Amino acid sequence: MKVKYEDKEINIKRIGILTGGGDCAGHNAVIVGLLRRINQANLSLPKNEQMELVGLLEGWKSLTRDPEKELDKIVKLLKLIDIEESFTVAGTILKSSRTNLFSKANLDANIPEKAMENLKKLKIDCLCVLGGDDTLGAAGKLGQQYAFPMFGAPKTMDNDVYGTEMTYGFESAVEESVHFIENIRTTAESHNRCFIVELLGRHAGWVAMWAGIAGGAEVTLLPEEVLDLERVIAQVEKAIANKQHCIVVVSEGVRLFDTRYPDEINKKHQKMLDTVIADPKYALVKARHEMPKKKDSFGNEQLGGIGEYIFAILEKHTKGFEYRYQNCGHAIRGGVAHVMDRILGLRYGDAIFSFMKQNTFGVYPGLEGDNIVPRNLLAVKGGRFVPQDHQLFGMRNAADYY
Ligand code: F6P
Repeated sequence: MKVKYEDKEINIKRIGILTGGGDCAGHNAVIVGLLRRINQANLSLPKNEQMELVGLLEGWKSLTRDPEKELDKIVKLLKLIDIEESFTVAGTILKSSRTNLFSKANLDANIPEKAMENLKKLKIDCLCVLGGDDTLGAAGKLGQQYAFPMFGAPKTMDNDVYGTEMTYGFESAVEESVHFIENIRTTAESHNRCFIVELLGRHAGWVAMWAGIAGGAEVTLLPEEVLDLERVIAQVEKAIANKQHCIVVVSEGVRLFDTRYPDEINKKHQKMLDTVIADPKYALVKARHEMPKKKDSFGNEQLGGIGEYIFAILEKHTKGFEYRYQNCGHAIRGGVAHVMDRILGLRYGDAIFSFMKQNTFGVYPGLEGDNIVPRNLLAVKGGRFVPQDHQLFGMRNAADYY
């Protein structure tokens, strides 16, 4: 298809698409949404302007490989008939990786340049990059540095990408979390227990907030707020007194200690933790506490395990009640793609094609109200947190209403 890019006419015939970062529901829907529009456009385009979509496998890693030696590990021609039903499932048919093209080591080895050379070797005229802020940011940088037509689509179950009111992947993660909480509820009720349920979401509390409220959690703890364990203990005791069981949802980004917290809270938490660590019953908690924290190639700290501290502290500091800790982990971002993510993903894929037709490059689609608007890839950033004056903040703890 002939389009205008940077004031020149170009003929886009081969479009590349890749998925980067953590997988989630909706990736496949974006791919299908875009491929549908390509097929439809091909029906009325002259032969020399017809397009095809090729998947680049395992995210940015594909472009760091050697096409002469391992082409089958790099590209895959996408035919609608083969993939059209994939939009109903989570994950990514293109596979993913957390490859950072702009890490120090990759910059020293001229990997961004190699990636661009590879795009040329693969005869790719335009690239669509589906991912979170790190992946989209890399697309923006590459597109600008090498004047290459790029598009993005904002994914992540965390719902924390700037420029869109919702990322795809979020709603399915919430649905799966609610399902998990509801399953836990019947066993908690049957055994008069308190369950601490930890949910992914990085430093944004969207998943925990929505899942906690929709799952009727008695207490929901978010990274955006100051954690006060004394208050949590009071809420849990209130729930137990009223209904003999309790569910505490905790977002993985919640911290026991933080420089944002008043000193007295940090000190109080330290004392509580010390009593846990000193108790041989919690040797595993101690061991995990002392383990060095891992980071991914973008420098993001690997989270997970805060729920276990909260579990141990609650068990140690309340009497006569049984506690259990459940970390939902990655299960909530896998499985089925729920309806909202199917539609949102298909809309984003459809929108990318419209942007291309309108000669609007270097953008990703963002949801604004019920409209899809183009957002500049160079402006993307993470850290879209739940605002503390959000209506949901006041509604999130069922125990506050007993
Ligand atoms: O960013 C999406 C996410 O699922 C986060 O919620 C979580 O902290 C992280 O990915 C887990 O990363 P990985 O799949 O690399 O363990």
